[in-house]
Amino acid sequence: MNVKTSFAVSFRCNFAPQKSNHFIVKNQIDEILLKDIFTKDDLIALLEANESDRKKIFALSSEIKEKYVGKKVYFRGLIELSNICSKNCYYCGIRKGNRSVDRYMVGEKEVLEAAQFALDNGYGSMVLQSGERSDRKFVNEITDLLKKIKDLSDGKLGITLSMGEQSEDVYKEWFEAGAHRYLIRIETSNRELYYKIHPHDSKHDYETRINALHTLRNIGYNVGTGVMIGLPFQTVADLADDLLFFKDLDIDMCGMGPYIEHEDTPLYAFRHLLLSKKDRFRLSLKMVAILRIMMKDINIAATTAMQAIDKLGREKALKVGANIIMPNLTPVQYREGYLLYEDKPCIDEEAEQCKTCLEARIHLAGDEIGFGEWGDSKHFEKRNNEI
Ligand code: 5AD
Ligand code: SF4
Ligand code: FES
Repeated sequence: MNVKTSFAVSFRCNFAPQKSNHFIVKNQIDEILLKDIFTKDDLIALLEANESDRKKIFALSSEIKEKYVGKKVYFRGLIELSNICSKNCYYCGIRKGNRSVDRYMVGEKEVLEAAQFALDNGYGSMVLQSGERSDRKFVNEITDLLKKIKDLSDGKLGITLSMGEQSEDVYKEWFEAGAHRYLIRIETSNRELYYKIHPHDSKHDYETRINALHTLRNIGYNVGTGVMIGLPFQTVADLADDLLFFKDLDIDMCGMGPYIEHEDTPLYAFRHLLLSKKDRFRLSLKMVAILRIMMKDINIAATTAMQAIDKLGREKALKVGANIIMPNLTPVQYREGYLLYEDKPCIDEEAEQCKTCLEARIHLAGDEIGFGEWGDSKHFEKRNNEI
């Protein structure tokens, strides 16, 4: 049976219109939520929904989450491996042009200790994230690390990479060394906006970034992408297009969160154009919820940036559809060095503290933790079983 149709049928009657004075009162949002496929206009209406309509969207997304991915939240222990970056994205605090950042690379011993912590504490997976570099020395270091993490854990720890754009050969090398998921955010799917938030040069080429996503898919990775929400110059229509872009690309994983200004970046000059932080957060929650409704069985991260704005940001994201959390395992002395944006949480907390904190947050959201499991995207598994 067509998967899309079966999803639609099973949810069709859950939001039966309410009766009032014998007339059926159905508003525009009710109508949209009954559809199998959302148009761009539908998505704009959902993103602009008012408070009471927002609750209907969240009720549906949370029901879909429970039904299709369950209540288990999977941990990905995050190592922010290095803040050395060859790029100059206009929004990012660790861009190459920011001279006030002390650059670091976490040592191999410390990474392996973090991997051991992940293993001992039942985290099924790790994420290695870094500024973008493609020199051979760096590529070799990552290849070695991957092999060592796999050896240390007897293959038990799943590994996600977030190391930006690389050649096909490098992606293959890292895949063969043990990485099996890759995150590369498109940041915005609107090409024009892309060049407003990045330099327009060969190092920040929109098409290269899109191609990277296709290359990763062809190699066999679980592929994840995402966008920033509430960027200067961004419209609700752009966000609707972002959601359609994810669907079109048939992604396995998504990580997205609010854009948060950073003083030492060029985009800071446009902060007067921004929505309030609260509104950026609200919009981000809606993006998570709508994506869960559109792509029922993918993995969606409750991102750290959500918590930078709202103390309960990650719990709220879990409640409306997210199912992945990335506890920070970066040794504390490096954390100040990885400030992509203002008010980043967990700067001083040791791995152990983040672990306890996140466990409490997950339980608060009414979920449970998938200890010792990879928790790969069900969407990926389904697609591969169909082939
Ligand atoms: N606000 C929010 N997210 C940011 N990122 C970088 N800078 C910012 C910012 N100022 C995100 C980007 C990047 C990821 C590593 O961090 O989406 O892909
Ligand atoms: Fe480098 Fe990534 Fe920051 Fe861009 S967003 S400057 S690639 S670390
Ligand atoms: Fe790090 Fe709460 S997740 S302190």
